[in-house]
Amino acid sequence: RTKRQAISAEPTALDPSQLTHITLTNYSKSEESRELIQRALLENDFMKHLDHGQILTIVDCMHPTRVARGCCVIQEGDDGSLVYVLEEGKVEVTKAGTKLCTMDPGKVFGELAVLYNCTRTATVTALTDIKLWAIDRQGFQTIMMRTGLIKQSLYLELLRSVPSFQSLPEDVLSKVADVLEETHYSESEYIIRQGATGDTFFIISQGQVRVTRQKSTSEEPEFLTTLTRGEWFGEQALKGYDSSTANPLPCSRSFMHLTGGLDDVNSKPYESDDIKAKLEAESVFFSCLS
Ligand code: CMP
Repeated sequence: RTKRQAISAEPTALDPSQLTHITLTNYSKSEESRELIQRALLENDFMKHLDHGQILTIVDCMHPTRVARGCCVIQEGDDGSLVYVLEEGKVEVTKAGTKLCTMDPGKVFGELAVLYNCTRTATVTALTDIKLWAIDRQGFQTIMMRTGLIKQSLYLELLRSVPSFQSLPEDVLSKVADVLEETHYSESEYIIRQGATGDTFFIISQGQVRVTRQKSTSEEPEFLTTLTRGEWFGEQALKGYDSSTANPLPCSRSFMHLTGGLDDVNSKPYESDDIKAKLEAESVFFSCLS
C-alpha cells in the first residue's frame, strides 16, 4: 500500500462478502459535534462529493478520542487506518521535517491514506491538547461499499421492472446497473432538445416525460407521447446518431437513468421506423455488454 491508487468513492480494499458481517457502531454526540463533523467533511476536497447518506453515516460512526499536546497523531510513512476530524485544539502538519500548515477545529485530516490506500503522506502533531473524532478504515470503507451495493440493487430492481429487460440474463442487467447514473430534472425542464447531439440514453425511474416534435420552427411542437417509469428514450445515443428527433420534456420531477435500451413494444404509439431504430439500438448496445 505504498503506491498511490486512483481515488474512488467506493474503495475496494474490502471484500464485499465481508460487508454483511461488519457491524457499524454509532457513537452518541451532541448536535454541535454532529454539525462540526458534517461541515468538516463537506469542506474537505476529498470527502465533499460523498453522498449525503454516506456523510451522515460517517458522522454517526465517528468515535471520540483525545491526544495530549506535543504528541504525534499521524507519522509520515506509517500505514494509516484512521480518518480524523479536529474538534478542539490545534495541530501542525509537516512533511520531511518541513511545516506545511496548522489546522484548527472543523478540519479533516488523515483521509489520504485511507482513501488512496497509501502510507501517511505527512506527520500531524498536536500543538495543544486536542479532541478528535475518528473513524477506522474498515468502518469507512464499509460505509462506502454498502451504499454502492444498495444503489446497485435499486438499479437492478428498476431494470427488472422494464418489461423488455426481463428476459435479459442477470449478468447483463448487472453490467447495465453498474453504468447507471442518477439524474434529476425539474418539472418542465427539457431533457433532450430536438436537433441536439444525443449522447445519453435514459430510463425513467420516477415521474413522467412528455415527448414532442416540431416540424418547423414556425410551428407549435406536436405532442407525441407521454413516457413513465420503466420506459426509456434517447436510444440514438447508443447508435452514435448526431441528433435527437424529438424533445422529451418531464411532466413532473423525474429520476432518469442512463443505460442501454430495449423497446417496450407493447406500449407506445411510436412509428414503425422508430420501433425499428430502438430494436437496432438495443441489439448493438447489448452485444457490447455480453
Ligand atoms: P494522510 O496522508 O492520511 O496523513 C497525513 C495527513 O496530513 C494527510 O492524510 C492529510 O490529511 C494531511 N496533509 C497532507 N499533506 C497536506 C498538505 N499539503 N496540506 C494540508 N494537509 C496535508
